[in-house]
Amino acid sequence: MTEERPSKVDMEKLVSLCQRRGFIFPSSDIYGGLSGCWDYGPLGAELKRNVKEAWWRTIVQERDDIIGLDTSILMNSKVWEASGHVTSFKDPLVECKNCHLRWRADDLTGNKCPSCGGELTEERMFNTMFKTFIGPVEDDASVVYLRPETAQGMFVNFQNVANTTRKRLPFGIAQIGKAFRNEITTGNFTFRSREFEIMEFEYFVKPGTDEEWFNYWLEERLNWYAKLGIKKEHLHLREHGKEELSHYSRRTVDINYLFPMGWAELEGIANRGDFDLKQHSAVSGKMLEYYDDESKEHYVPYVIEPSVGDGRAVLAFLCDAYDEEPDKDEIRVVLHFHPSLAPVKVAVLPLSRRENLVKLAKEIYADLRQCWMVSYDDAQSIGRRYRRQDEIGTPFCVTIDFQSLEDNQVTIRERDSMNQIRLPIAELQKTLTAKLAGEGLFVLPPGGTVWLEESKG
Ligand code: GAP
Repeated sequence: MTEERPSKVDMEKLVSLCQRRGFIFPSSDIYGGLSGCWDYGPLGAELKRNVKEAWWRTIVQERDDIIGLDTSILMNSKVWEASGHVTSFKDPLVECKNCHLRWRADDLTGNKCPSCGGELTEERMFNTMFKTFIGPVEDDASVVYLRPETAQGMFVNFQNVANTTRKRLPFGIAQIGKAFRNEITTGNFTFRSREFEIMEFEYFVKPGTDEEWFNYWLEERLNWYAKLGIKKEHLHLREHGKEELSHYSRRTVDINYLFPMGWAELEGIANRGDFDLKQHSAVSGKMLEYYDDESKEHYVPYVIEPSVGDGRAVLAFLCDAYDEEPDKDEIRVVLHFHPSLAPVKVAVLPLSRRENLVKLAKEIYADLRQCWMVSYDDAQSIGRRYRRQDEIGTPFCVTIDFQSLEDNQVTIRERDSMNQIRLPIAELQKTLTAKLAGEGLFVLPPGGTVWLEESKG
């Protein structure tokens, strides 16, 4: 994590923008926050929803070999004994003998406390699963865990899904849901949180074909980020060494992203082999296997698992979208989100608050809201309103002016190029649909004209 990030975003600026514009707030903010927990504000909730929708669309909706699932957060504790999490989901912890701060030993470079330089204790292993109790009695028998990954909900349902959907191998089960880890140290904004959401899927394959599928999914997942606008030079792959593999993994490759603090894991792709299904078969006594009607044999499938935290993905999309561009004597801050991720797709901006103009603008606003998240802004100069929309990544602004009342035409202004076209209101919805799907601004609808001059207000 040493390389300099060759772009304009630094974490401080991003945190400030996220808080100022309502993307992300500290959890329980008025009480001083809660370490490792975050609240997504009005724009952040939309952005995160769009990231999850884009993932679900690619992984589940557009494929016929992966189905979705939504399993409970609390599970029978035997699940976590069988999966190896009770014994192995641990990080090395050291404590400063002087200031008593605790650190994750594998995050430290020296053997002194990074805060006060004090001497550190010997390492001990710390299980990062959160524990609670189910029911009214707080004893050992009622201990349950908040799931640290969503994967186990999919493994224990393997037979249910296989029986009810009659899927043949290879097939996958996908899930998006909350996960909890009592991380020893948190930090870098939302990067390492204690409560977060995971988007992951278990892709079950015939043993022997696992390496081929592993490589297939590596490429698919890299392409997904690139398709949604992440610059290719900000992504690279990192193969895990044998000594750092998780207890269940035969092979893991991370898709790393160049965050402002340096290269760090965005998504992990693991070959979990038959570890989980075999463990659950052994501990539950219920055989989790597959009957191959071509080869007429029973076997336990291998599993390829691509897994990413959606908060981490949101952070990467925010970092990659952020830009500062010179504009006259000022700096234009703009989030160049892919249209499908932008929290607001269109802003409706009447040039003045005059009654007849507002009436038309409100009609257009009501119409467009049937299709997308749209915002309405009539405060301050048009130039300032454009800047406000640029800063939250709104791809298009629709301006209604006095001429609109006479010719029934409005202007569309594009976020990235700041170019404009003028077109009949009757063509607006269809045109915006095409532009949001990627059609160039200068592809004009019937009656449209190019309108190059931007009012900088
Ligand atoms: N089921 C596999 C699994 O959970 P993982 O590498 O431990 O694997 C998967 O986590 C992904 O979840 C990571 O690649 C990362 O994107 C995200 N993630 C893990 N720990 C996180 C944390 N403390 N805060 C935010 N995201 C986290």
